[in-house]
Amino acid sequence: MPNSRIIGTGSYIPEKVLTNLDLEKMVETSDAWIVERTGIRERHVAADGEAASDMAAAASRRALEMAGVRPEDLDVIIVGTISADMPMPSAAVLLQQKLGASKAFAFDLSAACAGSIYGMGIADSFIATGRVRRALVVGVEVLTRILDWTDRNTCVLFGDAAGAMVLAPSDGPSGILSTHLHSDGAGAPALYIPAGGSARPTTEATVREKLHYVKMNGREVYKIAVRSLTAVLGEAFATNRVTPDDVSHVIAHQANLRILESVLQRYAIPMSKCWVNLDKVGNTSSASLPMTLDQANRAGRLSRGDLIAMMAIGAGMAWGGALVRW
Ligand code: ACO
Repeated sequence: MPNSRIIGTGSYIPEKVLTNLDLEKMVETSDAWIVERTGIRERHVAADGEAASDMAAAASRRALEMAGVRPEDLDVIIVGTISADMPMPSAAVLLQQKLGASKAFAFDLSAACAGSIYGMGIADSFIATGRVRRALVVGVEVLTRILDWTDRNTCVLFGDAAGAMVLAPSDGPSGILSTHLHSDGAGAPALYIPAGGSARPTTEATVREKLHYVKMNGREVYKIAVRSLTAVLGEAFATNRVTPDDVSHVIAHQANLRILESVLQRYAIPMSKCWVNLDKVGNTSSASLPMTLDQANRAGRLSRGDLIAMMAIGAGMAWGGALVRW
């Protein structure tokens, strides 16, 4: 029997839309280039004054309502984010306060776009020990605040959003069958923020040189992503002795349509099984996976007993996969 089950999902996407045509006016790019290379057509941007914990709270309230769980009954809150409200304290404790989840211990998890799948794996393990009965896992990013809006390599890719899921002990065959988490720090130079940490604290020079923004070697990230996600899906299939044909849905971190197509092609899984929203929201990093799950769930796509394959990868590189019996 699985350790834990996802009993509620929720998401929040800020209202303001930034289209590829808007970006054409900001940097030397084109709608055609962005769509062809990534599949992204528009993304959403948080309102002025809207911080990660605000968006996380909106997504969490929806997930808790669906789960029928009161905030005060939560045992742990795990927030995957690299764009928390501030360096200290964590977005998770600010979220705890906003929800009134007085009993929970709360912490942030830094695994970039893999933040939610890492959080899911950790929550599943906490539940397996019996230490935790109700876990809230959130992915939230306000990446538009840490992008260089003059760098066309990065600014066209990302958007803001939050996604949340509530986990509880499983009482039957439904639940998280396995999670598979991996990291390889050799990939660190492919995607990073050079300044603002202890290696390179903030100075006037770092600000002038725009070193507090995301830097990326897109080709390198692309290659690592396809290789790692293909491997982790294979690992999940082998562990559970299932075949790709058994998979009803793929819920994936949405970085780039071509990455998703390449990985699924290796297993002959049709794209019709993969819920795609990156055309509307762009790459929302850790928010992507739980938000996508919530959209598929609320659209009535997921039926009891369906086998769902999940996968995500981000800066680190850090990546993970999971198989879930819905
Ligand atoms: N508009 C127009 N031209 C651009 C843009 C842009 N927005 N960005 C880059 N270019 C140019 C480059 O400068 C380059 O020009 P050059 O040949 O004159 O030097 C040309 O387009 C080709 O650049 P490439 O980097 O080779 O383009 P590629 O086909 O690899 O596509 C992309 C770039 C979309 C970033 C791709 O590499 C990619 O998707 N990589 C994965 C990155 C990713 O998903 N990152 C998200 C974070 S990590 C994660 O979530 C998994």
